[in-house]
This record gives sequence, C-alpha cells and structure tokens, in this order.
Amino acid sequence: MSCGCDCSSRTDLIIDRWNADPDFVIEMFQDIQEEFRHIPESSLNQIAERTGKPRGILFHIATFYKAFSLEQKGELEIQICTGTACYVKGAVDVLRAFERELHVDSGETTPDGRFTLSEVRCVGACGLAPVVVIGEEVIGQVTPSMVPDLLKKHR
Ligand code: FES
Repeated sequence: MSCGCDCSSRTDLIIDRWNADPDFVIEMFQDIQEEFRHIPESSLNQIAERTGKPRGILFHIATFYKAFSLEQKGELEIQICTGTACYVKGAVDVLRAFERELHVDSGETTPDGRFTLSEVRCVGACGLAPVVVIGEEVIGQVTPSMVPDLLKKHR
C-alpha cells in the first residue's frame, strides 16, 4: 500500500546506496525510517524484491526493533515514562494530561502530524521522576499543570 508520497524512487536511492545487499537491510531500514519517519509497506516490498530477502523476515525486523515503525510518526515524539519510579510519582496523571491536551491516546499521532504520544519504561533518569522526553529533551518532575506550557513551547 502506498502512503501517498513518492516513496518508490526515494526508496530505490536508499537501496542503491547499500548496493541492494541483503546483509545491509537494517541499514536500509534506518535510512528509510529517517527519510519517511516510518517504514512504508511499499518500501518494505521494494527491499524484498531487490535484495531477495524474504518479506516475512523483513517484516519481523521492522516490528522487532523499537527504532522502526510501520506507522508514520509525528515530527516530535513525546514519550511519557511509566516505569516504576515515574509511575509512583504520578506519570499516569501526566500521560492523561497530554492525552487531553493533544486529543489523542497514547500511541497515536496528532492529525497535524506534529506529535506522537507514547509510553516508555524507564529512560534512566529515575531521580527526576516523573520524566517526559520531548524529542531529545529530557524533562524531569513534570506535573499535569506543566503540560500546556510544554506543548506551547514545542508547537
Ligand atoms: S522509571 Fe522513569 S526514568 Fe526510570
């Protein structure tokens, strides 16, 4: 299925970059994820055709690694840590505040394609709990009342 963009020729360029070598399908996926912010099904099919790697194995790779997504993500990912330390400090209330403000559920992308909201289990900053990661920025001691301002800053 096509995602509506010119994925095909851009995917071909990426496959060419790796000489259509089946030993480099993960590298191809990394480039495709970066280019399209997800792995379009059409790109996966092109890699299968051109490298000879079975589609089932490619699908397994695309779903196994957290760095890859078959669904298009927003420009900025908002990750709410719901690991134990953050959970006991109110991470669920923070998550609900983001869901309310963005009008999406965890795992979804806003209709304008700006934000994808997701949950993660511990980002290694438990001393700052509850923690939210927006793009590359790690923000500690987040409360629900901070959420509107955090979003305004990243709109
Ligand atoms: S549990 Fe949230 S940073 Fe560790």
